[in-house]
Amino acid sequence: MVTTENGANLDYMETDGEIRPQHYAFLVSEAEFDEIFARIRERDLPYWADPGRTQLGEINHHDGGRGVYFEDPNGHLLEIITRQYGSGGWNP
Ligand SMILES: [Fe+2]
Repeated sequence: MVTTENGANLDYMETDGEIRPQHYAFLVSEAEFDEIFARIRERDLPYWADPGRTQLGEINHHDGGRGVYFEDPNGHLLEIITRQYGSGGWNP
């Protein structure tokens, strides 16, 4: 179990069944974005500006913040954003 700063828990479980990729977004501070994004680049992980994974090696600036998508080892699409969706007028 991983507990996030806002008290939400992410529970991981072992399974022999099929793992269907999901999408998880995390609202983080600018400083946290810098730390996480640095780790993504240090590990040479591919990252994208969009969930459709067409903008490889880019981040987005929706709502005046920063956002990026990357995959976890099971293929789940993880996203970090520094502004809440729509907070700056961006409408996907
Ligand atoms: Fe998203």
